[in-house]
Order: sequence, then C-alpha cells, then structure tokens
Amino acid sequence: MYQKGPGVFMADWWDADGRRHRKQFATSAAAREHEHRQTALAHAERASREMRLAARTSSTKRSAPKGDAGTIEPAKGKLGVMIPGMGAVATTFVAGVEAVRKGIAKPIGSLTQMGTIRLGKRTDGRSPKVKEFVPLAGLDDLVFTGWDIFEDNMYEAASNAGVLDYRLLEQLKPFLSSITPRAAVFDHNYVKKIDGPNVKKGKTKMDLAEQLRDDIREFKKTSGASRLITMWCGSTESYIEPTEAHQSVKSFEKALKENDEMIAPSMIYAYASLMEGVPFANGAPNLTVDLPVMLELSRKNEAPICGKDFKTGQTLMKTVLAPAFKARLLGLSGWYSTNILGNRDGEVLDDPGSFKTKEESKLGVLEHILQPGLYPELYGNIFHKVRINYYPPRGDNKEGWDNIDIFGWLGYPMQIKVDFLCRDSILAAPIVLDLVLFMDLAQRSTELKGLGIQEWLSFFFKSPMTVPGLYPEHDLFIQLMKLKNTLRHLKGEELITHLGLEYYD
Ligand SMILES: NC(=O)c1ccc[n+]([C@@H]2O[C@H](COP(=O)([O-])OP(=O)(O)OC[C@H]3O[C@@H](n4cnc5c(N)ncnc54)[C@H](O)[C@@H]3O)[C@@H](O)[C@H]2O)c1
Repeated sequence: MYQKGPGVFMADWWDADGRRHRKQFATSAAAREHEHRQTALAHAERASREMRLAARTSSTKRSAPKGDAGTIEPAKGKLGVMIPGMGAVATTFVAGVEAVRKGIAKPIGSLTQMGTIRLGKRTDGRSPKVKEFVPLAGLDDLVFTGWDIFEDNMYEAASNAGVLDYRLLEQLKPFLSSITPRAAVFDHNYVKKIDGPNVKKGKTKMDLAEQLRDDIREFKKTSGASRLITMWCGSTESYIEPTEAHQSVKSFEKALKENDEMIAPSMIYAYASLMEGVPFANGAPNLTVDLPVMLELSRKNEAPICGKDFKTGQTLMKTVLAPAFKARLLGLSGWYSTNILGNRDGEVLDDPGSFKTKEESKLGVLEHILQPGLYPELYGNIFHKVRINYYPPRGDNKEGWDNIDIFGWLGYPMQIKVDFLCRDSILAAPIVLDLVLFMDLAQRSTELKGLGIQEWLSFFFKSPMTVPGLYPEHDLFIQLMKLKNTLRHLKGEELITHLGLEYYD
C-alpha cells in the first residue's frame, strides 16, 4: 500500500500468477484491507496449486543430489564493511570481530562461525561447520568504515555505548581508534531525538547521494577491498509509508533531485550503495530497501538486499514460543510485551514517530505465525500490545517482560510469563557478522546475486522482506531450515525434508 497523493491510497498486490495489480482508495485503511485480502487470496490459490502438484508427484522417487546450483566465486581478497550508524551495535560488532581475531574472545551466537550443517542421511555422520561448507570471507579479511552524525571514533563510540567492559576495550584501543566516521547524510525530521555536527551538505538529495557514492569508491580504493557490503546500523527513522516516489528508479531519481521529503536518509545510503553495485542489509525497521525502487535497482545491478530489523530479544522469544502454541493447537487470547532500555536506541524510540516504525515491525510477527484465517477459534481474537519504555539507568541491558494468555482443552485459560534480562547489542553483533558474510556469499553466487531480496536470510530479522505478495516466514525454525537448505542447494547437496521414510525401507 502506498500513498499516491492527498487522499489517494493505492492497494498494491501480486496475484497467484505473479501479476502486479493496483487499486485506488480514499483511505489508507481501506487500501490496506483490500491489499491484505487480495494477497491472502493469491497465497491460498498458490498453496492449493502446490498441493495439487505435490499430490500428482508424490509417488515419483525423489531425485538424487544434483550438481552445484550455479557457481560461487571464491572469497578472494578483502571484504569492506561499510556501516551507516556507528553506535552501540556497530561498535560491539567491530570490536567483537577484532577480539576474536586476536584470540581473546569467542564469536558466540554466530551461525557462520560456530554453526554446523548436517549433510545427507542422519546415519552419514557428515556435519561440517557452515564456514567450511560454503566459501565465506575469513574474519581476517574484513576491513571497516562507517558514517555517523557524531565525530567520535569507534573506540570513543564504544566507550560511550557502555556495552563492552573497559578492560576489553583497552586491548582493542589502537584498532578501534583508527576507524573514524565519515560525514553522514542526516535529516533531523526523521530522527527527532538526536542531532550532531558531522553531517554532509548538498543542494539536493541527489547531491548527497553522489557524495556517498564518492565515499564508497574512495573506501574501496584506499582499503584495497575486492568486495563491499553496506550494513545499516543507524537509528530508527520516523514511520512513513511508500509513495509514488518510491515506485521506480525513474520516479525516485526525480524525487531525489526535487528534495522530496518522503525520501529518508537511509534510502539515500541504499540508493548510493545499490548504484555502486554494493549489497545492502537493513538492521533497523525503516522502509529503506523495502521499496519497489530498491528491488528494481538491486536486481539490475546484481546487488542483493535484505532486511529488516534485527531479531534479537523479545521478538526472538516470540518467534520461538508462538510456533510451539500453534504446533500444539493451544489458543491465544492476549500477548502483552513491555520493555525497559536506556541506550541511545531507547532514547530515539522514545519519539512517537520512531516508535511507530518499531511497533509495526514487532506487531506483524504473531499474525503471520498463528494464521488466524486458518485457525479462527484459536487465534481469531488476540489482543497484542508492544511497549518500549526509555529508562536510562539500564543502558544497553534491556529487560523485556511478556505476559501471555493462552487457553487449552475445553477453553481452560493458562498464563506464561517471560522475563528476559538481555543485552541488546550482544545479541545483535553476531547477527551483523553473519549478515555481512552471507550477503557477501550472495553477491558471489550466480544463483543468488540477481534475485534482489535474499529471503533465505529471514532468520535474522523481525520483519523479513519477501517478494511482494508473499507472506514472510517468521517461525525461527522454519527460517533456519530455509537458510540451511539454501546453502545445501547452492552446493548441490540433497535438501533435508525430515521425511525419514528411507531409514525404514
Ligand atoms: N540492538 C538491538 O538489539 C537491535 C535490534 C533490532 C534493531 N536494532 C536497530 O539497530 C539500529 C542501531 O541500534 P543501536 O543500539 O546501535 O543504536 P545507537 O543509537 O547506539 O546507534 C545508532 C547510530 O546511528 C547514528 N545515526 C543516526 N542517523 C544516522 C544517519 N542518517 N547516518 C549515519 N548515522 C546515523 C546515530 O548517531 C547513532 O550513533 C537501531 O535502528 C535499532 O533500532 C537494534
């Protein structure tokens, strides 16, 4: 759904045959409802076609492993990581990579560094490490740069963020101090709670995009990197909905030249990266690359995109618990989630515009997992509330409470309480590392690089991007299976379906 003009809202959906449709409405609610209904119908039609196809082919034998799906170029040379937003998450990630390289800490929480992948039958005993199975860049090959509205280098920014302890930071000081932020593209209207001096100037938003493109080219040259990745770790921007300006490269470029206020800074970074053929991953809930213009550019320039909003604390728990309720057909009447956090992210989210962006991203999860359309008696009437409260004394150490009202056999009610005392950036940093390495893999894979959206990376996001018209998978375990099957597919290994009948032949 997007707004075409004052009082003109366009429902925008894809039918089961992949054809795009648009219909005009006078209110955003009516357009959104129409779009949801048509998307659900298209999905139901596709699902029933798949079932008919499966029924026709179920008696045929499964095929043996095929050859490599396309080719993957080796990870030769340095990989340049460019980070808009050098705050708590970015510094915890970069400091962590350096600590692991120096052998003083372990990359706990990282799928690429610690995860394994089963290949073949359960009886085959083949479970290599993910990083040995697919050709990923090594940690020693990562080089970094970034942009921020504050002038602090990464050592100062990490010290201010207060995530990592002083003793660790002192050991990393020379390295972290050497990474200083480039001047940012920033618009205070999009992040109302902060302002800083390190900001680019330009007559139009197109000028700013050109300056970012210069930065990217300069970094590539001076760092000697053979490949680059942009990883958005900047603040959450105010909530906006797509407009006509975001619908194609042509309309977006016109809007950049006309300083259209609906173009947020994060979109300018994304445009600059994709124009330079650099993949872009979005760790915040902003629209950023979740727009037709970015999909068009990503496909055209073979620069993958993915997002949005790292799945770290409370939503991680939600996407673990909700699938369990659905698996056991337990009903849900309410889910009340509240948080306290005191870092800069918490301060930014204290602004209603930024909070709305985050709220939208957090709320979608339950509906997609529980499918109230299919299970109206169990999930047709859920009260779902998400609150985030800025509470400075806690810093980055967030506390998230969930009160979950469920019901079981004959409708008898029960309650579950979750109290997660987590560390926001400690949970986010390994996700950043995995996204950097997997997005680099995608740009080297002939099969993946031209697809645009990398849905197989949904595992890392609260609000995963999908091709328009396709609902996202939120269930953490389906997401993990999707990710690992994608890796198996890339390497020509048999996909694991967990059917398992062959063990009893
Ligand atoms: N930590 C988590 O668990 C988590 C989970 C999901 C999403 N996120 C998102 O990740 C992002 C980073 O989180 P954080 O805790 O590091 O926040 P932070 O406030 O510590 O860091 C964000 C940085 O971005 C900078 N910034 C803002 N606008 C910018 C722009 N236009 N260009 C360049 N820099 C800009 C700010 O100055 C700040 O230094 C936030 O959007 C947050 O919502 C974090």
